[in-house]
Amino acid sequence: MNETMSTIYQRRAVRKYKAQSVSSEIIEQIVDAGRMAPSAINMQPWKFYVLTNKETIKTFGGAIKHGMVKGFLKTGIKQIITNIIGTLHMGHKTDFVKQDDMVFHGAPVVILIASSKTNEWAPVDVGMCAQNMMLAAKSLGLDTCPIGMARYIEYTDTYEKLNVPNGEHINLAIILGYGDELPEVHERIKTNVTYID
Ligand SMILES: Cc1cc2nc3c(=O)[nH]c(=O)nc-3n(C[C@H](O)[C@H](O)[C@H](O)COP(=O)(O)O)c2cc1C
Repeated sequence: MNETMSTIYQRRAVRKYKAQSVSSEIIEQIVDAGRMAPSAINMQPWKFYVLTNKETIKTFGGAIKHGMVKGFLKTGIKQIITNIIGTLHMGHKTDFVKQDDMVFHGAPVVILIASSKTNEWAPVDVGMCAQNMMLAAKSLGLDTCPIGMARYIEYTDTYEKLNVPNGEHINLAIILGYGDELPEVHERIKTNVTYID
């Protein structure tokens, strides 16, 4: 395997981190890798909000945990069911719910990614941007986890601290740091490809 392939196969959602901080140079390299992602009609819709203060991360994580209930209710019954199934699907680590920081898993860096609410391609672009960042982080010896729950920050009092402009919202967060666990690879579904002649 070449280095890129090997990085892709080694990346895991890591939910346990060492206390070691991450230098601002490394954070900037990872953000910049995100900026290099492709985007529909080159809109580059992503905006990054970087949290590195332990107390701030704790406050945001705690607020999101409570804001989630409001968020679930707003998104409707279908989404509630999807979220519950999703949580159960993380089966190997359901004890994360009992963690002190069940949203950001004690990671030293949280990068929230926002985009325009009206750009229909923005969530796809943000996904590509986030994957670039996670692979860049892995290649630099760090681990990451995408945190969809972070979007519920919108339903909390802490949201205004971010000053997200009207018309934009948080799509996703990436947590990153030096991992303190080696999760096993989740087996991938292989029956999902159709080759057309
Ligand atoms: C859009 C998205 C949202 C996710 N949200 C969360 C989350 O809120 N909390 C969490 O612990 N993991 C979250 N994950 C991580 C997934 O659970 C994880 O990627 C999946 O179980 C596959 O494991 P792997 O990344 O190690 O291959 C999310 C992943 C994606 C792609």
